[in-house]
Amino acid sequence: MKKLNLFLTLLFLVLSPIWGQKELPYLTKQGNATQLMVDGKPFLVLGGELGNSSASSFEDIERIFPKLQRMGLNTVLVPAYWDLVEPTEGNYDFTLIDKVISQAQENQLKVVFLWFGAWKNSMSCYTPLWFKKDYKKYPRAYTKEEKPLEIASSFSENVFQADNRAFSQLMKHIASVDKQHTVIMVQIENEIGMLEDARDYSKEANKLFNAPVSEKLLSYLTKNKKTLHPQMQEKWGKQGYKLKGTWQEVFGDDLYTDEIFMAWSYAQYVEKMAQSARSIHNIPLFVNAAMNSRGRKPGEYPSAGPLAHLIDVWNCGAPSIDFLAPDLYDKGFVNWVAQYKLPNNPLFIPEIRLSDANGVQAFYVFGEHDAIGLCPFSIEDGSDSPDAPLVKGYAKLKELIPVITKYQGKGVMNGLYFDEENKERILARDDLKIICRHYFTLPWDPRARDGSAWPDGGGLILHLNKDEYLIAGSGIVIEFEKTGENKAVNAKELGEDGFVSMGGKSQQQTGWQGTSRAGIGPVDEIKVKEDGTFSYVCRLNGDQTHQGRHIRIPVGEFSILHVKLYEYK
Ligand code: DGJ
Repeated sequence: MKKLNLFLTLLFLVLSPIWGQKELPYLTKQGNATQLMVDGKPFLVLGGELGNSSASSFEDIERIFPKLQRMGLNTVLVPAYWDLVEPTEGNYDFTLIDKVISQAQENQLKVVFLWFGAWKNSMSCYTPLWFKKDYKKYPRAYTKEEKPLEIASSFSENVFQADNRAFSQLMKHIASVDKQHTVIMVQIENEIGMLEDARDYSKEANKLFNAPVSEKLLSYLTKNKKTLHPQMQEKWGKQGYKLKGTWQEVFGDDLYTDEIFMAWSYAQYVEKMAQSARSIHNIPLFVNAAMNSRGRKPGEYPSAGPLAHLIDVWNCGAPSIDFLAPDLYDKGFVNWVAQYKLPNNPLFIPEIRLSDANGVQAFYVFGEHDAIGLCPFSIEDGSDSPDAPLVKGYAKLKELIPVITKYQGKGVMNGLYFDEENKERILARDDLKIICRHYFTLPWDPRARDGSAWPDGGGLILHLNKDEYLIAGSGIVIEFEKTGENKAVNAKELGEDGFVSMGGKSQQQTGWQGTSRAGIGPVDEIKVKEDGTFSYVCRLNGDQTHQGRHIRIPVGEFSILHVKLYEYK
């Protein structure tokens, strides 16, 4: 299937200039990064996802989209509601979809539609009433105690047929009206997963649970044995990497086996949806997952969704899906994002809790993980003031798109992300030690010590050439040292002017070895032009670099700095 997709994409690329049409969005590789190509150029999603009910009326769409433009978004993630798309069986209404596309175009936004179909946060609340009522034809999932749930059964062919028919109609409609390719990706379903129990106990599900594990899955696991997710590796290993047997025989008798079984069902279901979609309108497709945080067990979180520990099951079951995407609402941002940036999975965050940290979080994922994009949830509730952190952050990131996309996947960028607990990160590049910290580690900012909350700081650092860096973000301070250099006096002991804060205390000697030292040359605030070249804004020196000791971007400001280093002995 993937080969066919590649062939169709190449054919389209060759023929589209002849037809005079814009090419469809697609994903491509640059080094280790996966880039989303939109209108022929690599694109970063500076996004936001609408609250669940905010695209259900013309009035809301008209009110919200201009605000999103003012906030500096380039993409909006919008639900496509099955119950409103197909209010009576077989009769489709795409007026809201058309409204979203036209409003997006008027406000220079791209759109990612989220198919709120058979499942939304596990439940089937967005299925139309005619579907809900006909539970004999469209059966539910059951708990172990045989309680029917408001969750359609993924084992029912009728459920699939009805869901897929409506979804295919949506894709056909998009293909026919969206000649500008405003719609750049589609998410299939929303946070699929079982709740209350780790798997469906309907009759059909029980039958399959006690039947042999799919050979396709077992041969995939065998082929990819060395690179399986550690949890899968361990679980299957404990059973002696069995190649035959029921789900419990192959994976053991516990809730996580129930979850694997269920994930296989969901993945296969989604794969069929994805295949239909691709045959109609071939744009990138993804699925999203609610995280399994806070020590919850399968059944206590939406189990069997596209979670990191189930990536092998999902990749094998749904190869037509381009990536699995995390929805991030809990603590542990740095940890969660790392789990979803894998050689076979690019990072895209369709939902993250709306907060003042979103701007620096976006810098971090683009710098550290070559992310495709990040989208705070319920974005319409955010501020559109030019002083709001997200607005300032997105404005700088928008400038940086040609630069970031040029260097993605080449191993020359890092992301930085700091809070009060994680204040420091040390990077190594060439013969340099790069010490990066939260801005409030500078002792002379009163907010650092007066009990004020530390706003999250972060950014990206890009190695342009030897001794040449681009540093961007907010709330960070960076020092450069030659490896082996051991600075005699550190900033903690000095006032902002560079004088020792208090007299009488002799300066610490740290065993100088006589190596060469890294010096800071010009530090310029710059703007990035549309073609990716830089233009000078101002020179930062003196107090603004602690008299040449460090580079910094204060909390509350977002800027892009161009830095040259030199060496002296
Ligand atoms: C994650 C879901 O995907 C969203 O649709 C929404 O329900 C948020 N949780 C939280 O409200």
